[in-house]
Amino acid sequence: MRTDRKHLVRRAPSACAIVVAAAALGVSAYADYEPTAPFVPTVEEDVELMLDVAEVRPEDYVIDLGSGDGRIVIAAARRGARAHGVEIEPDLVELSRRNAREAGVEDRATFVEGDLFEADISEASVVTLYLFPEVNIALRPKLLAELAPGTRVVSNSFDMGDWRPDVHDMSARSSGGILMWIIPARAAGEWRLEIDGGAETYVLSIDQRYQEIDVRLDSLAVGTEAPVAERGSASLRGDRIAFRAAAAKRTYAFSGTVDGDVIGGVVDVRDSKGERRLRWRAVSTERRAAN
Ligand SMILES: C[S@@+](CC[C@H](N)C(=O)[O-])C[C@H]1O[C@@H](n2cnc3c(N)ncnc32)[C@H](O)[C@@H]1O
Repeated sequence: MRTDRKHLVRRAPSACAIVVAAAALGVSAYADYEPTAPFVPTVEEDVELMLDVAEVRPEDYVIDLGSGDGRIVIAAARRGARAHGVEIEPDLVELSRRNAREAGVEDRATFVEGDLFEADISEASVVTLYLFPEVNIALRPKLLAELAPGTRVVSNSFDMGDWRPDVHDMSARSSGGILMWIIPARAAGEWRLEIDGGAETYVLSIDQRYQEIDVRLDSLAVGTEAPVAERGSASLRGDRIAFRAAAAKRTYAFSGTVDGDVIGGVVDVRDSKGERRLRWRAVSTERRAAN
């Protein structure tokens, strides 16, 4: 059986009914599943909460994928941001444009009729979603591949499977809450790390699953020992990376920014001579797939 996109789009049951209906279709019904979601608007209080959680500011560019009657886009534009809605239903696109005109924000709130899976989202700094859980999961690779590190993705009610949210605000009217993820930089692989222009040199290995990372330092020179990365100390938030490591009589607190094939930042080194801040730089030598 093929799920009819238009049929699903045109029904307007409650969010709860959507999930029940999806479950009732059963696994076999999804064999040829074309992910989509019907029009159920986000309640106004939760629209504001979604924008609050994402900390939307005038410098942001907000894209609502499946923008319904345009309310999230219009609310973002009222905060001074540029905002754009992608909506498959032409009547809803027309309604959104009318609503934006009435709200006096049509210069900052634009809408296009189209399929959210084909939308150009690369310029967004915030992406908002109120879709089926299955649609979120189907969308996940596109979000991770096309959005810049640091972009905030906010979802009304539904999660992203095994991609843990950075924020889950349960103060929402919606029982599922508001969830937010920050797109992580791609850090997985091996890097040649130098402290203080080469005074110390190590191999930095990074395992990555979404924003969760494990790091290891190995020595490059025979007879020298690398500091041991402290378990659980590594974090990646957007392009910002941090981790700690310790050698016999010295500790290191690294922080830096991942920028393509280079990571650069400062390391606070503490030993018997006291504490000093040095620069460190790592250059990619082997890329690994994240996740
Ligand atoms: C649950 S509503 C959310 C509307 C709005 N974002 C909000 O929160 O008020 C989902 C919207 O996604 C639209 N939609 C569903 N599948 C789509 C697709 N493949 N491309 C673009 N829009 C789609 C539906 O027409 C509907 O308006």
